[in-house]
Amino acid sequence: MKHPLVKEILYTRTEIAQRSQELALEIDQHYQSQDVVENTILIVGILKGCVPFMAEILNHITYECETDYMVMSSYKGGVKASGDPKIVLDINTNVKNRHILIAEDVIDSGLTLEFVKNYFYTRGAKDVKIITLVDKPTKRAVDLVPDWTGFKVGDEFLIGFGLDYEERLRNLPYVATCDIAKLKDWKW
Ligand code: IMP
Ligand code: MG
Repeated sequence: MKHPLVKEILYTRTEIAQRSQELALEIDQHYQSQDVVENTILIVGILKGCVPFMAEILNHITYECETDYMVMSSYKGGVKASGDPKIVLDINTNVKNRHILIAEDVIDSGLTLEFVKNYFYTRGAKDVKIITLVDKPTKRAVDLVPDWTGFKVGDEFLIGFGLDYEERLRNLPYVATCDIAKLKDWKW
């Protein structure tokens, strides 16, 4: 049942759904208290890892929203980030004066989202907030704190629910620690 590269399941699909619902409620309440143009926020998912989590939160957010997506590169397939974020595919929406909510699977060094956040502000966004499924605060290289976090974790390499190893395993219906001892001789 559980994938052979899984060491331990940390968060099940049910737990993630439950947490996403709580976060969506906080998000609704937050934006209801803000002066938002046309009462519509722009949720920008960072592909590809955001997909399962973004779907979860979208199911629960009731505040009016548009959605768009961005592809960033900073991770070179394996278990280490390269630390030099680049835009591979940009959003197709004008961000001027917009309230933006960035949705991400995991924040590690923080370099990717620091870059994206600054990029939106440079292009005239009024407010940029961040929601992440998992946060690894001990791994931070920059001073970046997400506004909403599903779960805080240590510095173990995680897979599932959007999080990949070599572009695989995003489809696991849970967040798990990866059995990295097996990776050395692993064949897909
Ligand atoms: P950053 O270091 O915060 O810039 O994170 C960059 C990217 O690294 C994230 O968007 C993920 O794609 C990836 N990443 C960080 N930690 C993990 C992990 O534990 N598993 C899978 N991908 C990760
Ligand atoms: Mg990612």
